[in-house]
Amino acid sequence: MSTQTARSQRLTTSDIRARKGGVPLVVLTAYTASVAALLDAEVDILMVGDSLGMVVYGMDTTLGVTLDMMINHGRAVVRGSKRACVVVDMPFGSYQESPAQAFANAARLLVETGAAAVKLEGGVEMAETIAFLVARGIPVMGHVGLRPQSVHVTGGFRAQGRDEAGGRAILADARAVAEAGAFALVVEGTIEPVARTIAGEITVPVIGIGASPACDGQVLVIDDVVGLFTEFTPKFVKRYADLAPQIAEAARRFAADVRSRAFPATEHCFTAKPASGRSRR
Ligand code: KIV
Repeated sequence: MSTQTARSQRLTTSDIRARKGGVPLVVLTAYTASVAALLDAEVDILMVGDSLGMVVYGMDTTLGVTLDMMINHGRAVVRGSKRACVVVDMPFGSYQESPAQAFANAARLLVETGAAAVKLEGGVEMAETIAFLVARGIPVMGHVGLRPQSVHVTGGFRAQGRDEAGGRAILADARAVAEAGAFALVVEGTIEPVARTIAGEITVPVIGIGASPACDGQVLVIDDVVGLFTEFTPKFVKRYADLAPQIAEAARRFAADVRSRAFPATEHCFTAKPASGRSRR
């Protein structure tokens, strides 16, 4: 298949934008080519979230994630998928300083990964940067409400918008991000009535996580969905599989086979004259 054909099969940011008010958008995070390949047919957006710092690298927050990490994982997810729109997070410190800094790093993310868009956290204060990027050809997904990159300012991973002023501030953030030209936005960890109001008012798709069923789509972290990240399970997560015990059991059986010399068996060993010329036989 030519690169041209492969490209044309992917959902674009315009396709995503056109889904406002329609069938809800399905969004999952992915960090590797193999997982991206498994999810590709089921989702509309593969989100290479900086949550990878916590679920893949074992960090306590997302603050230590670097641009190089996002480029490497973004590239893997693009390689592993054909159909989904791939969006890559801009990590902490790669865009907050100035619109010019944001452009240089967002351009690297798009060029070096092949992803369709970047996502960045922030509201009113990031509107100028979002407009700057969009005007220069970089599609941006916004992220308001609970912003994990700001946990040290907001006091932890807590639901936002619980009082009237907080709710009004998140609504103002969502309006600013959409008016700046974002093609969609994530609303995370925000009380349901506020998230519902945002979904009803904002004219681009609003993708919820710990938000509201009224949103135009839902996103979850894949490791939470399949039961791989077991340190804690946020209230908003629904687990659809329980892979952690299965992986531990597979490792236990492998260890037992190795120690008892049951593995490798004859069929796992190479012979002097392979029956076929294939290198894995
Ligand atoms: O980092 C991430 O994975 C995210 C999504 C959960 C929205 O921001």
